[in-house]
Amino acid sequence: MSSDDFFLNKRENKKIDLKLQKLAEITGFDRKTLDEVFDRSTLHSIEKLISDRVIDSLEFPISTGKEGNVFLATTPQDTPLVLKIYRTSNSTFKHMADYIIGDPRFQSIHKSKRDIVYAWTSKEYKNLQKLETIGIPAPRPIKKIDNILVMEFIGDKNQPAPLLKDVELKNPKTIYKQIIKAIRKMYQEENLVHSDLSQYNILIHKNKAYIIDLGQGVLKGHPLSNEYLKRDIHRIVSYFKKYDITENEETLYNKIITGK
Ligand SMILES: Nc1ncnc2c1ncn2[C@@H]1O[C@H](COP(=O)(O)OP(=O)(O)OP(=O)(O)O)[C@@H](O)[C@H]1O
Ligand SMILES: [Mg+2]
Repeated sequence: MSSDDFFLNKRENKKIDLKLQKLAEITGFDRKTLDEVFDRSTLHSIEKLISDRVIDSLEFPISTGKEGNVFLATTPQDTPLVLKIYRTSNSTFKHMADYIIGDPRFQSIHKSKRDIVYAWTSKEYKNLQKLETIGIPAPRPIKKIDNILVMEFIGDKNQPAPLLKDVELKNPKTIYKQIIKAIRKMYQEENLVHSDLSQYNILIHKNKAYIIDLGQGVLKGHPLSNEYLKRDIHRIVSYFKKYDITENEETLYNKIITGK
């Protein structure tokens, strides 16, 4: 490295340091979390979203998960949006790789850690597009850059909609039917299996079930897609038992795969 490069890097690092300090103030995150989430390339992507006027600012973190962080952002027109930022460090790549390898859409990617995270983000974006195409309630995908997914915010004002697990449903049968219909339509019309469907990945908003977190979604061609479908059905049927809704899982599975 020449001394010029060294000074350039130092200057660049100082710039990043200042940005992270600002983000720490906005988000309330400690520096360790920020360093993990906002590596240099993620910061550049956020800057690009700002200069392309997709977002105007980051507001606050909605959730800190195993693989990424979800933030509320606002557009220059003050509309709330959601940024899901997958971490490129400390991420569970093995888990991600299992759901990507086997998906015919992602056969040609080189499998560096960063590539896997980017492919995962693309997969969630494409799966959300599929839900939009078939009219299943889910956040509308807006943009994808590298490890960042920008999507519609589901909620009121700046209050995200609650998860199914945290709601006492007044109309459990209606919500149950919506979820089963979503599973069937995804499978029948888009060959898609969510693969992580449960009360933790469904938001309840205005009496509707919104399906979220589609990174794990696989196509029918995936060798384990039927197992994942059975697991999705099992988790939903089990959850609704507390509302006295009972359905035979095998019968339901057969109905879904035959489209009846
Ligand atoms: N579009 C959205 N609108 C409102 N809230 C959202 C939206 N997307 C995600 N959230 C909130 O962020 C949380 C995490 O999102 P998501 O389930 O997609 O990520 P995750 O990687 O599964 O995180 P975790 O590891 O915590 O499960 C959700 O439980 C939900 O509360
Ligand atoms: Mg989730």
